[in-house]
Amino acid sequence: MSPTIRLLGTEPSCMLSRTVSKRLARRNVRYILLLVVLTGVLSGFLFLRSTFSTYYAGEKLRQCEERLAKGEALLLQRRVSNMDENTEQPPRRVAAKHFLRSVLVFDAVEHFSSVINTNAPGRATFLGTSSRGRGRPGWAYEPRPLLLNLSNGAWYLPLDGEPPSIPAVLLWLDRSRNERRLLVWTSTTAGIAYNPPRECAEAGSTCQLELITSSTTLAGSCNVEKRNLSLFLSANGAAGTSCLAEVRMQVTLTSTNAQEWEPEPSLQTLAIVRPFTEDQIPKLMRSLDQWNDPWRFPCERSGDFDRPDLVFYANNEQALVSARAVFQRNHSWSSCFQRVRWIEANVEPTVDVHPDGTCFQFYSIFDDPRFRNYYQYFFLMEPDVHPIRAFWLDSIQRQIKLSAPQATFWIRGSTSKCAGWYAANDFHINGNALYNLSSRQFRDYLIRVQRAFQPRGHVRHAPGCSGGYGGFDHSIFHYAVEIASKNSHKWKMYQKLCFDDRKSPVWNFCKHRFLPWRVYTESNGSASLVHSSWGNNVDFWDPAVHGIKRLETSMLEMIRLWEQDPFPLHPRFRAFALLHCRKRQLF
Ligand SMILES: *[C@@H]1O[C@H](CO)[C@@H](O)[C@H](O)[C@H]1NC(C)=O
Ligand SMILES: *[C@@H]1O[C@H](CO)[C@@H](O)[C@H](O)[C@H]1NC(C)=O
Ligand SMILES: *[C@@H]1O[C@H](CO)[C@@H](O)[C@H](O)[C@H]1NC(C)=O
Ligand SMILES: *[C@@H]1O[C@H](CO)[C@@H](O)[C@H](O)[C@H]1NC(C)=O
Ligand SMILES: *[C@@H]1O[C@H](CO)[C@@H](O)[C@H](O)[C@H]1NC(C)=O
Repeated sequence: MSPTIRLLGTEPSCMLSRTVSKRLARRNVRYILLLVVLTGVLSGFLFLRSTFSTYYAGEKLRQCEERLAKGEALLLQRRVSNMDENTEQPPRRVAAKHFLRSVLVFDAVEHFSSVINTNAPGRATFLGTSSRGRGRPGWAYEPRPLLLNLSNGAWYLPLDGEPPSIPAVLLWLDRSRNERRLLVWTSTTAGIAYNPPRECAEAGSTCQLELITSSTTLAGSCNVEKRNLSLFLSANGAAGTSCLAEVRMQVTLTSTNAQEWEPEPSLQTLAIVRPFTEDQIPKLMRSLDQWNDPWRFPCERSGDFDRPDLVFYANNEQALVSARAVFQRNHSWSSCFQRVRWIEANVEPTVDVHPDGTCFQFYSIFDDPRFRNYYQYFFLMEPDVHPIRAFWLDSIQRQIKLSAPQATFWIRGSTSKCAGWYAANDFHINGNALYNLSSRQFRDYLIRVQRAFQPRGHVRHAPGCSGGYGGFDHSIFHYAVEIASKNSHKWKMYQKLCFDDRKSPVWNFCKHRFLPWRVYTESNGSASLVHSSWGNNVDFWDPAVHGIKRLETSMLEMIRLWEQDPFPLHPRFRAFALLHCRKRQLF
């Protein structure tokens, strides 16, 4: 060891030790006295605090007994008065059989994306080879303003829209002016065929549909032909020639006897949309069975005229047929809905891969006349979404009704409440949310999202899903953030995407555990559903499932909120609460 270190480290403290220890002894007495006094004060405080909190908790518990009793009495009273009202129920509404005037059921300009995406009933199919070979024509979403050739007066495609050399068809919506125009360029034959709705094809049903078209040739010479519900365009001339035309195409219904089909519904209703693929059918059916349980029953009273529709939304015809075959028609919750509808997106098999299929299916809703003509709002509810309370359907409807006029929304949904990595990514709103389908601004916004996020990386085919971490929900959020960060005045508009979780009917937990009573209190009673695959096979209201043995403060808080708007409780939760609120019998 070096002398320097000894000198600095050990020697001085040894030299000082005697005098210091004397002084320290005297000081220690003072410290000890001080410590005794402090301990006394502290234990007095702790004693008082524990006495007070015992009293306080007792008070809360006493209130919780009363609250449970009052809430259940109110619930019973409401049930009895509903029974009285429901005895005089008017008959179910049935579709009108005849129309005095024709009803517009399809307009190619309004429902443009459905023309290029599908050949489902109630929509139109695009026939012809796209300029990008097989698969979905990506260009269809790109705006191509036409230019006027001043020397010959003809409209022409600017350079970036240079016609392909192979025989092909270009079809696009020109949004460069105030009005929208459907434009078709072809060097072969192009066709658009309207497929009559499913309701018209059901046994014994007839529908009189009429095709209304007009076209204006803008360049070249176009041959336009109308056949039944189809429109064909071909370049008229020598090989290698092409033509460009502006086309109008509408389908109207003049009469039908199809039951339960209202081609001109009063855009009032909400739809609960349950999207699924063939693989998800068992999970979906299980979730529907669960709605029969009193503690997750959708509605309190049936027979209201503004009951929403329940729409099963398959990715293709095959999945739809399979699901329809196993769907039970006797569910006791059926009366909560005006009707059950079956719609398929008909995503092309070649592009119906993950995540593209989901992406196509989502954006189709905003174009499909079977949604657009019917609903103002829809709630997207994947098979992993679970009710955390009874009367959740009423709760969603009330939220729409009570929405303040100055706080109009496009989306009401939840940011991530997920544990771990999932929580950290961003503030995007999960796709399981409430959407304002009636907002044209919102629909236009979604088209911009689709244009901005072209297929890229693992999203190989579908536009509108390559933003952020991928998926339509991330893309919708990221586009807003990108735009708003460049133009801060736009932020107000994008607030309509709503980042306030306390206004959302659903909270998103990805695949993670959640405590239903906490979700209910933390959302101030607004959340009635959760998205979590963890919840698929778990009785999440049962405190034993979470290993909880004592009443939590959040449970007391939940009971306080619940008393204002009671609903049937899960029997195990109720028993647990009753036991711990020290009450034996309610009635
Ligand atoms: C405009 O029309 C003239 C005469 O037909 C033609 O020669 C010219 O290429 C056209 N310009 C464009 C940009 O198409
Ligand atoms: C029009 O439809 C009818 C019946 O659906 C069919 O028999 C007929 O061949 C069609 N006509 C044309 C020109 O496609
Ligand atoms: C519906 O009918 C099936 C048998 O067809 C039965 O197993 C099921 O319990 C019924 N469900 C309800 C809610 O009545
Ligand atoms: C939905 O959008 C429409 C059209 O922009 C708007 O008038 C309406 O107030 C919105 N609804 C809500 C509840 O925000
Ligand atoms: C919670 O909801 C009630 C009405 O349901 C409302 O009066 C209250 O202001 C809300 N509280 C918060 C903090 O949002």
